[in-house]
Amino acid sequence: MRALVYHGPNDIGVEERPDPQPGPGEVLLRITATGICGSDLHGYTGENKRRHPGQVMGHETVGRIVAVGADAAGDGREPGRVATVNPVIGCGECAQCAAGSEQLCPRRKVIGVDREIESAFAELMLAPARNVVVLPDGMPEEWGSLVEPLSVGYHATRSGGVAPDDTVLVIGGGPIGQACALAARRLGAEQVVVSEPGTARRRLVEKLGFATIDPTTGDLADQVQDALGRPATAVLDAVGTSRTVGDALRASSLGARIVLVGMGSRELTLAAFDVTTFERSIIGSFTYPSREFRETAEWVASRPEGLAHLIDDRVGLDDAPEAFARLASGDLHASKIVVFPQGPRGAGG
Ligand SMILES: NC(=O)c1ccc[n+]([C@@H]2O[C@H](COP(=O)([O-])OP(=O)(O)OC[C@H]3O[C@@H](n4cnc5c(N)ncnc54)[C@H](O)[C@@H]3O)[C@@H](O)[C@H]2O)c1
Ligand SMILES: [Zn+2]
Ligand SMILES: [Zn+2]
Repeated sequence: MRALVYHGPNDIGVEERPDPQPGPGEVLLRITATGICGSDLHGYTGENKRRHPGQVMGHETVGRIVAVGADAAGDGREPGRVATVNPVIGCGECAQCAAGSEQLCPRRKVIGVDREIESAFAELMLAPARNVVVLPDGMPEEWGSLVEPLSVGYHATRSGGVAPDDTVLVIGGGPIGQACALAARRLGAEQVVVSEPGTARRRLVEKLGFATIDPTTGDLADQVQDALGRPATAVLDAVGTSRTVGDALRASSLGARIVLVGMGSRELTLAAFDVTTFERSIIGSFTYPSREFRETAEWVASRPEGLAHLIDDRVGLDDAPEAFARLASGDLHASKIVVFPQGPRGAGG
């Protein structure tokens, strides 16, 4: 098979690799589409030291089942079916895994991140059967690659306890912020505003039906007050810097929940008394429990409005190195670039 192999900072290329064979409990997929995530990009530039030479990245994916190993059938996992893959692999033995919270498993591995797992920027990929989530026929197949980032936003929004009566501020209008806003709407919130400095991204978020704020044009707290009629009762920070957490504190109500899903900085400086004396909570959110991934897959399969806007560009494997280089040079797309290992035609619809 052909795979996109990471060689080192800013160096990635297509190579021939042996076709993987499914062992017991494994499913072999022919990959249709894999989204390029910000973390892939940080791996590519070397900024994020979690990617290693020789590695095949890719964790936002959809494909067709080719073969099913021993003990891997069930839940519709049959050759020919379309499926997405939950990249978070728990040990399957600890209390967190038993509760379906694989993201809290101390021995968790993540497809696309762990160096020994050959992942989804390739023609073929193996996945543990329990991570393979079959999708119904008939939906645009490429949307299966959106389930992963949309699940990140769904978990963040659920972690913040977002409910219909909340006024919600989403900070950052990238794919994760977009996912948070869509999830807030899915949980019934009608008052949602997204803060994003990039014009193309604000336009996209508006196409999704959300109000936007440009944080560079004035005080964010005032702008949120104007947009929502009151301070935010829930904030989803999809940037994650001292500046955005500061904005979240200033623009939110007493008792507000602030979810830190963005990972823009390793360390934060924040106004501690704005947390204590206003009884605000800061809640961490990482990936998703398997149940929320499956719920998001079902939601995507129901063809909710707006998803068609979430893919900006489609490239084949041979054009993927150039797409990585463009993205690394700061070419900010409104939403996702998706790699089609079998070529971009014939997907979708
Ligand atoms: N916790 C998790 O499980 C998880 C999963 C995936 C990604 N992430 C993190 O989420 C963050 C967002 O991911 P993404 O793919 O959307 O990234 P992205 O870089 O594509 O988008 C971030 C957006 O934030 C905007 N921004 C920058 N400064 C801002 C400010 N002060 N106010 C408002 N907006 C601002 C940028 O213009 C950009 O559009 C990243 O830090 C990523 O590492 C976390
Ligand atoms: Zn991702
Ligand atoms: Zn475990």
